[in-house]
Amino acid sequence: MVCLGNICRSPLAEGVLQSKFDPEKVFVDSAGTAGYHVGNPPDKRSIAVASKYGINIQNQKCRRFSREDFIKFDHIYVMDRSNYSDVASLANNKTEVSKIKLLLSEVELGFLEVPDPYYGGNDGFENVYQMIDTACEAIAKKLN
Ligand code: 4NP
Repeated sequence: MVCLGNICRSPLAEGVLQSKFDPEKVFVDSAGTAGYHVGNPPDKRSIAVASKYGINIQNQKCRRFSREDFIKFDHIYVMDRSNYSDVASLANNKTEVSKIKLLLSEVELGFLEVPDPYYGGNDGFENVYQMIDTACEAIAKKLN
């Protein structure tokens, strides 16, 4: 799961998707394309909305997306088009590019981007949680 900062959207997406899989069988992680918050825990508002739905993300630590992630992971879900181009610019070949997908392309919501809630209020986080959960449910159905 990849977003810009790895403190709002992708930590939530990591927690939500991991909650739908047996951690012994499927490993889910998240990263940011930017390095502003490396080493930090997720944004308090993401921690709060996850906790509201019984998911604990407070022990996650922000890291930056790296080229090795293309080798380590089978699927790379990005939150918006800007994340898509940032991640794609690091790919070495077509196989790596083919692993990258907009998270919301897994569902038909009528839009394809998970909006960045960083500068908004708490309702932005609830909204983002619902989109992420809908997409992760579809992924879990497909892969489980
Ligand atoms: P995220 O949100 O990409 O969902 O983690 C952001 C968090 C921080 C910043 C931008 C987006 N920032 O500019 O610090």
